[in-house]
This record gives sequence, structure tokens and C-alpha cells, in this order.
Amino acid sequence: MSLDRHLFIIFGGTGDLARRKLIPALHRALTHRGRPDAIVILGVGTRHMADVEYRTLVAEALVEAGIPGDEAHKWCRCLHYQSVADGGSVELGKRILRIEDDYDLPQNRVWYLALPPSIVEATVSSIGENGLHVGDGWKRVVIEKPFGHDLESARKLNETVHRYFEESEVFRIDHYLGKETVRNLLVFRFANSLFERAWNRDHIESVEITVAEDIGLDGRGRYYDGSGAVRDIVQNHITQLLTLIVMEPPVSMSPAAIRAEKIKALRAVPPIVPGDVVAGQVDGYRDLEGVPQSSTTATYVAIVAHVDNWRWQGVPFLLRTGKHMAKRLSRITVRYRKPPVCLFHTDGTCPGHRNQLDITLQPDEGFDLYFDVKEPGDVFAIDQIPLSVRYDDWLGELPDAYHTLLLDVMAGDQTLFVHADEVEESWRIYDAVLDPRDVKPYPVGSGGPSAAGNLAERHGLSWSAL
Ligand code: BG6
Repeated sequence: MSLDRHLFIIFGGTGDLARRKLIPALHRALTHRGRPDAIVILGVGTRHMADVEYRTLVAEALVEAGIPGDEAHKWCRCLHYQSVADGGSVELGKRILRIEDDYDLPQNRVWYLALPPSIVEATVSSIGENGLHVGDGWKRVVIEKPFGHDLESARKLNETVHRYFEESEVFRIDHYLGKETVRNLLVFRFANSLFERAWNRDHIESVEITVAEDIGLDGRGRYYDGSGAVRDIVQNHITQLLTLIVMEPPVSMSPAAIRAEKIKALRAVPPIVPGDVVAGQVDGYRDLEGVPQSSTTATYVAIVAHVDNWRWQGVPFLLRTGKHMAKRLSRITVRYRKPPVCLFHTDGTCPGHRNQLDITLQPDEGFDLYFDVKEPGDVFAIDQIPLSVRYDDWLGELPDAYHTLLLDVMAGDQTLFVHADEVEESWRIYDAVLDPRDVKPYPVGSGGPSAAGNLAERHGLSWSAL
């Protein structure tokens, strides 16, 4: 993987995401690759700040992230800061040229927009209208999720972005795609013929995808209230998991081949209608700073989706996410069909269970495959036991998602980034349920509103316990 020297420009350079996630991940990724000085970072923001002040701010964040103080301060010497309040894009353009000159950089530029979604489009336009994206080297723009606010705004944002950047230069980031456990889904499915042969409607009865968080929304109320659970987690993180579960095998591992299959898979998902959704709002949410007392924003949502294609017709996909749930758990549960004939019945009942595969993405990353075994004794009594594998038993600490994804951006590998068509397809699926009307209250530390149970029951299913 080649790593050209370049300027890494971070809009939102003083923000939480940049300080807590991006810059520590950049440091780790570059140090890991033995190229700590491959990039020069330019933080961009609205605050007035001198370079030296910015370096101190970032060095503190690096230390908080566990990087030794000396190392952090030394590395931060290649950091610069430009306020757009001082002369806007024109001054920014001049500053970029000066830095590239000083460091003898070949005008390769990453534009990382670590910004609230509401100002992303205006920022792309301002980069483009001022010609900042034009240079002698390569250029790449990285845009955080959610990409747009709904289908229409996502289309418009794609149009604006494509005015100045080719699709091959656009990196729509969804950090779930950088998680080792998520990337492993491709290997799990396509390197193990054991599972893939039975990965279809003939063998699988239902699939559940849960992204439950025990944390709430302290400090994020204002942003979240304009967003809600569908935009925050379902349209992106959960849909990415769904896509990796249902997509057909790609013809190769090239980014184009993988992304083509993902887009095809999403096209087979019909729009979700309000009757397929149960929404909830956690008690106390309206007391958060920035949240109006009348807010009906959903902090929990449960959805039943379908994939209308040859492989998945008739298989319900239960999707669920929530804040302040009983525990933190991201898990894909695949429930297999029961055997066609019950041989081991006792007293007219059939004691057998369904086989079940749990793929746990976090915490406690690993796999559990549940299957039936005979209990000791002379009758055929049946019990279900798991065959379990935990990642940390053989892998130790997993790299942070941003570490992986930032290295890919710097190397120009788009495999784990979301294509324009893919992002539009995913908005299309949820467009009618982005702001659910009937939002039911649920207590902190619970499994969400009880109505979600009824939704699953309508399909003869139940949610796994939290
Ligand atoms: C972010 C959401 O994209 O993902 C947050 O905006 C959420 O609301 C976070 O808490 C969850 O990420 P992870 O990696 O902790 O599962």
C-alpha cells in the first residue's frame, strides 16, 4: 500500500471528532506504518488560534488517548491551524500553498470534513468555488456520516460534490466499515464454504441486527434532536451490516466489485413503511440541553425489513438500535430453520431448537454457533450448546476503526467507503420513516418499548434478550 506525502486538511480541526478520534488515529496509523512524517496536518476552524496553541490542544488530546507526552509534542510540530474567520477560503488557499512550499509537498491533498452535516455542502462548494481543490497532485475528500439528511438532500450533496471531485476521489466514511469484526464478515462468508452454502432463504428463517448502546446523549442533544435513531445509526451503520450479510459474492476483492454487489443488494430492499417500525424515546431525553420539551425525536427504533431477491425472499430482517439500553451490544443473529422432520419428540412435543449463529461485533467480539446435542442418559433428551470463539483469545487488541479507514484514505483505497449510489439507495429505503410519528417512552436501562416485541411477534419472532 503506497503512502504519498501529502497535506491532510481537517475542517472541524478543533472539534471533538478531530481531537478524540481522527488525529490520535492518524498518529497511530502513521507510526505503525513507520511513516510518522508522511503527512502535514492543517486544522481548519472558525476559532482564532495560533499554530502553537493548536499544537498544544492536539498534543493534550494525544496524551489523553494514551500517547506518551514527548512523542505527542514532537509529532505535533507538523500541525498547523487556519481560521476561516480570517479571510475565509481565499486566505485558506494561500496558506495551503505556503505550507506545501515550506514542506516541499507535491500538492496531494486530503480534505477531511469533520463537520456537522448541515454545513458540509456549503463547505464543499466553498472549496470548489475558490478553486482550492485544483492542484498538481491528487485530491481526496472525506465526508462523515450521515451523508445528507434524507434522499433528496443526499442526491443534492452528491451533485455538489461531483461538481468538484470525481467519484474515485470521494470517501464517504462510515466507521463501522473499519471495525475488524465488520470487515471480517466478508472473510467469514466468502472464505468459508461451510456457511455460504446455507446462507439463503432455504436454510435461514430470520436475521436480527442489534446495535444497542448503554450510553445516552449527554452533550449531543442539540445535534441529535435534528437527527434521531434512523439517521444516526440505521441508515448507515445498521444498513452497512445488513448489506454485508445479504450481498452476493463479488467477482473479486476489488473496490469496484465489492461496491457493485453492495449497491445491487440495497436495490432489492423495498422502502420501509411506518407499520414496519416501532420508535421510542428514552425517559429524560427532553431534559437534555438543546432538546425542546415537545421533542418527538426517536432515540430507539425497531424495524422489520425485507430483501426481495432470489436468495432472501420471505426472510424477515429485524433491525434495532437504541440509546440508554440495558447494555452495549452490537450483534448479528442468524436463526436457521428447524429440521423438516422432528425425530426426537417426547410426549407429542418437539424439543429441538433452531441452530443460531451470533456474530458479536462489540463488546466481547466473536462468534457463537448454537446447536443441539443429546443430553447424557438413555432417552433422547436434547440440549442446545454454543460453539464459541472470542477474538481476543487469539488476536489481542484490535485496531481502531479510524486507524484502518484513514490508512485507506491516505492510500486511495475505496473498498471500505460508501459509493454515491449506495448512499442514495440507503436513504431511499428509510425515506418514509426518518422521523417516526408515534414515539413511545421507555425507561433508561431497558430493552426499549414493549411494542417492539409485538412487531417481531407479527412475524412469529422475538428479539434476543439484552
Ligand atoms: C456514531 C453515532 O456514528 O456511532 C453515535 O453518531 C454512536 O450516536 C456511535 O454512539 C456508535 O459507535 P460505536 O463504534 O461506539 O458503536
